[in-house]
Amino acid sequence: MKVSFAKLSRPASGAVAVGVSDGGKLGKTGQIIDRSTGGALWAAMKAAKHTGQSGKTLTVYAPPRSKLTKVVVIGLGKAKDMTAQSLEEAGAILYGALSKEARVTIVIDDIKNAAEDGGDLAAAIASGVVLKSYRFDKYRTTEKASAKPKLKSIAVSSNAFADARAAYKVREAVNAGVLLTRDLVSEPPNVLNPATFSDLAKGMAGDGLKVKEIGRKDMEKMGMGALLGVAQGSITEPKMIVFEWNGADKNDPTVAFVGKGVTFDSGGISLKPGAGMWDMKWDMGGAGVVTGLFKALAGRKAKVNAVGILGLVENMPDAKAQRPGDVVTSADGQTIEVLNTDAEGRLVLADALWYVQEHHKPDTIVDLATLTGAIIAALGEHYAGLFSNDDELSTQLQAAGQSVNERLWRMPVGPEYDKMINSPIADMKNLGGRYAGATTAAQFLQRFIRKGTAWAHLDIAGVTWSEGSTALAPKGGTGYGVRLLDRFVADQYES
Ligand code: BES
Ligand code: MN
Ligand code: ZN
Repeated sequence: MKVSFAKLSRPASGAVAVGVSDGGKLGKTGQIIDRSTGGALWAAMKAAKHTGQSGKTLTVYAPPRSKLTKVVVIGLGKAKDMTAQSLEEAGAILYGALSKEARVTIVIDDIKNAAEDGGDLAAAIASGVVLKSYRFDKYRTTEKASAKPKLKSIAVSSNAFADARAAYKVREAVNAGVLLTRDLVSEPPNVLNPATFSDLAKGMAGDGLKVKEIGRKDMEKMGMGALLGVAQGSITEPKMIVFEWNGADKNDPTVAFVGKGVTFDSGGISLKPGAGMWDMKWDMGGAGVVTGLFKALAGRKAKVNAVGILGLVENMPDAKAQRPGDVVTSADGQTIEVLNTDAEGRLVLADALWYVQEHHKPDTIVDLATLTGAIIAALGEHYAGLFSNDDELSTQLQAAGQSVNERLWRMPVGPEYDKMINSPIADMKNLGGRYAGATTAAQFLQRFIRKGTAWAHLDIAGVTWSEGSTALAPKGGTGYGVRLLDRFVADQYES
């Protein structure tokens, strides 16, 4: 999508969107358009009882005395409630009304007393259009051209155009990360496997972003028995990817992001039931977010030292696959009794967490994983689960999530739950009891976190894929997590 910003003016032709704040008052340019079309906007608004309610649209086709083909009036709500977030959502709604136009002009009149700065509001509305216009249609060969959306170009008309342009540049970099994450979770598992995912990540190297690949041989040397056990039933070799972005001073702290990248989770020998098994193509969602995040951080040249780890494996049943009952040894020497081969994410993360602490000594680690069905039972699609050994880090992540509407709900960890994963024959088992399944999984991960490291685990099983459309995305991959962590980095390391 081509997005441009120019000084506020009255568009003479084509498709146009104008905002109206609660109370039904058109802005200055809106009023000019209304007058030049013989009051067509105002008449239509009155007839439709449109008084600027937030998110409400009204389309006026071919208003008289003008070359305009279409004017979409969008309600922006009360000025004092207008934030970048609310305007971004308005942009997403606008997309629905304008997707069949090739080119649109969005008029953003000065908004007095808006809650946030005008430049970012104008950038946000464009961002909302772009995020909502996402489509994963590369494998559709017979869809009629007339059925496809047409929108290619958005011109934003605003007095804050210079600020908006600057704000949009940052948003564009972050959105590129979000869209990449959506692509990754949408790709079918015969296309995206540990090898192809790893190749894609390596292809991102450059302009200061370092990418290193670790293959099976090196994993064996390092003793990554937990990750390798999961991978051994697959014909595709496991890979670990290490992203490094050093945008801050050498002596500044390092923050690490670690993602579960199970490119397909059949359950392994503890095979999942057939219904809905295809969902497990997005069991690499955590790694997808870390990849999108590094695209965003590098794209906007973030002033942070960050390292990202992808643990990429495929969990398949096979003669060579690991069995329920196997005992494996992780890279840090702890032994694990694998009671269920479908609890594989924690095994992959155990070795990835060891690696990042051993080689990068981060102060803070955030891991992301589509780890448990239990978190979906608890929180549904509206919050991801947050598990942490650090109250301050938890508060920071929750605040970042709140401000981009990717919300986190804190769940407990603690010694009572930790006991539930003791094994009689090894240091731990990969299965808890009947209850608190998301917490016992987190407890397992915590056993691989060294003393003094602030750690948070985000269980994103419920938010990675959406059966219906969300505020900023069509149904399918949401990209949840990229904006949250980008904001967390901006708030905690760059301001
Ligand atoms: N990838 C799944 C969790 C999952 C389920 C993610 C549904 C998204 C949607 C994970 O590997 C898994 O299978 N977890 C098991 C753990 C159990 C065997 C302890 C689960 O949640 O049932
Ligand atoms: Mn599983
Ligand atoms: Zn899984």
